[in-house]
Amino acid sequence: MTSGDRLRGQAAQFFSVAVFVAACVGVPLPAAAQEAFTLEGHGGPVKGISVAPDGVILTASFDNSVGFWRDGAPRWLEGHEAAVNAVVPVAGGRIVSGGDDFAVRLWDPATGTSEELGRHSAKVIRLATAPDGQRVASASWDRTARIWSLDGAGALEFTGHENTVSDVAFSPDGKRLYTASADGTIRLWNAETGTFLRRLVQHGFGINALLIAPDESWLAYGAVDGGTRVVSLPDGAETGDFTAGRRPILAMAYQEEIGRIAVGDAQGYIMMIDTATWRIAEDFRATASGPVWALAFSPDGGNIHAGGIADAMHSWPVNGLENAEKMTGTERSFLKAPEEMSNGERQFQRKCSICHTLGTDGKRRAGPTLYGLFGRPAGTVDGYLYSDTLNGSDLVWDAETVDRLFDLGPDHYIPGSKMPMQRITGASDRADLIAFLQEATAPD
Ligand code: HEC
Repeated sequence: MTSGDRLRGQAAQFFSVAVFVAACVGVPLPAAAQEAFTLEGHGGPVKGISVAPDGVILTASFDNSVGFWRDGAPRWLEGHEAAVNAVVPVAGGRIVSGGDDFAVRLWDPATGTSEELGRHSAKVIRLATAPDGQRVASASWDRTARIWSLDGAGALEFTGHENTVSDVAFSPDGKRLYTASADGTIRLWNAETGTFLRRLVQHGFGINALLIAPDESWLAYGAVDGGTRVVSLPDGAETGDFTAGRRPILAMAYQEEIGRIAVGDAQGYIMMIDTATWRIAEDFRATASGPVWALAFSPDGGNIHAGGIADAMHSWPVNGLENAEKMTGTERSFLKAPEEMSNGERQFQRKCSICHTLGTDGKRRAGPTLYGLFGRPAGTVDGYLYSDTLNGSDLVWDAETVDRLFDLGPDHYIPGSKMPMQRITGASDRADLIAFLQEATAPD
């Protein structure tokens, strides 16, 4: 393997080869590259995606963590006790997430710390930020929506739906809240008092996703029966039906500048509706199998980001979907939920698997395989091009040296190594990871 090959292997973790090659010839990597790319590193499927105004991508995953991705590099925000379903940016560069642990958490990504704003009495499934960035609405399986103020003053509760609340959206002035529910209705509320105003839609089947036009002239929704409809506001008259027969609709996103609604369904398609002509512009099979759970446009509308059953977020240029490759990545069986993994395995999946395999199958990663690691002298995997630091080092990998590697961080323990800076500060996390690796890398 040449070093160029390996470097490309590493870069391909985050960006398409085309973008990487562009970077090599001196073209800077744009924050919103109109190229396909993949964000890998989560140890479970991606359920929610948002894009912050500065281009940071936020991902919410089954693996209980929130990914905070700047220029393709992740930071993991850990604090939820179960799968995270939704994440949104709020004022002050902070973010809010909600999950299967019923909790709504407020994060300061600068420090990685979080606090619980409060809890529903069932899963939190979607979130929406108020236009001023100071409040967040949550949709929950406890049949309520709530609006949380970020100062921790508690929540305003919206009760009346007869089933799970599946999605929420603020009016552009932040004064009203739209809620969609598995009871088949979309309802409108006063967002300041919690008062029910009226029922806008009565669809025969449960509604999963909801969008409001930035000028509040229409709303679009997607339902369990595949129904994909547009209704004019404020009268609630149906003006468009884009039902493609696939079901259920799971995710929707809208980008004003390019005038596109993206619709994702359980059969793995992303359909694009052109809001200038109200026609279907593209209909693209995004996954070989499995659902599209989450959708978000890049800030300039050049790319559509999607999360599905794979442990990765994929992004495609909106112009060129028909030729785009499908979503790929580890597809984890749901027989083994992330919460059933040992802590050591989760540590590995989340922090190492992006760059290291455990076996001898030769799958390319940025780092050498960890197969047979314990007792192995550093820098000795055949055919792997090590840095000078590890090449010829007299270090031998064992439980103690691996522990020190991540206690101190590679930059201190093996300075000059190509392994990026990262520390695992919890001694028990390191011990669990090492116990997992001892078993998983043992030669057959
Ligand atoms: C972003 C990529 C990346 C991540 C993430 C990463 N590594 Fe590495 N790792 C590397 C690279 C590249 C090397 C080779 C370093 C060199 O040649 O200096 C390496 C080397 C190693 C080595 C030395 C192997 C040898 O043969 O001497 C060990 C041990 C190791 N990594 C363990 C881990 C563990 C455990 C984790 C997770 C906690 C991890 N790495 C996360 C990229 C990564």
